[in-house]
Amino acid sequence: MTGQPMRGEYLSRSAAETREYARRFASGLGPGDVVCLTGQLGAGKTEFMRGIAEVCGCDEQLSSPTFSLMNIYEGVLRGRPVELHHFDLYRLESEKELDAAGFDDYLSGPFLSVVEWGDRFASLDRRYTCRVTLEITGDEQRKIVIS
Ligand SMILES: Nc1ncnc2c1ncn2[C@@H]1O[C@H](COP(=O)(O)OP(=O)(O)O)[C@@H](O)[C@H]1O
Ligand SMILES: [Mg+2]
Repeated sequence: MTGQPMRGEYLSRSAAETREYARRFASGLGPGDVVCLTGQLGAGKTEFMRGIAEVCGCDEQLSSPTFSLMNIYEGVLRGRPVELHHFDLYRLESEKELDAAGFDDYLSGPFLSVVEWGDRFASLDRRYTCRVTLEITGDEQRKIVIS
């Protein structure tokens, strides 16, 4: 955890604007941060993740993790190598599956972790250093709350 991640409420009017907010947000993150990303399907969680990956210079490695539980990208943040851990818990059914996946180990360490559907399992609550909630408020409009 390095800088001060931004907090507050923002209104995005396009996917590009969401990525822009995500880039600003990510510039205050550091290794050890674990970001909980929440919002319904299509809210823009993966778009937001893309902005974070852009800051880490690894957006080209990005693929939607909806079909895989986790992806690991090699990035650079403020001149230092960083492992970006990208999770999508949408398909996980139970805490048991979460344990079996060894999820805990991937969250612990000098990584920058971003967890889509991070609110699905209450046991993870204590692991998060920031929360980002995206809400669909129009066709291309999203409310973004960072806390
Ligand atoms: N303001 C916006 N912010 C983010 N995505 C938007 C916005 N407006 C439209 N979209 C579209 O909504 C979809 C969001 O998809 P995605 O990021 O995969 O959502 P999620 O990961 O939350 O299911 C994309 O097709 C994107 O182009
Ligand atoms: Mg997604």
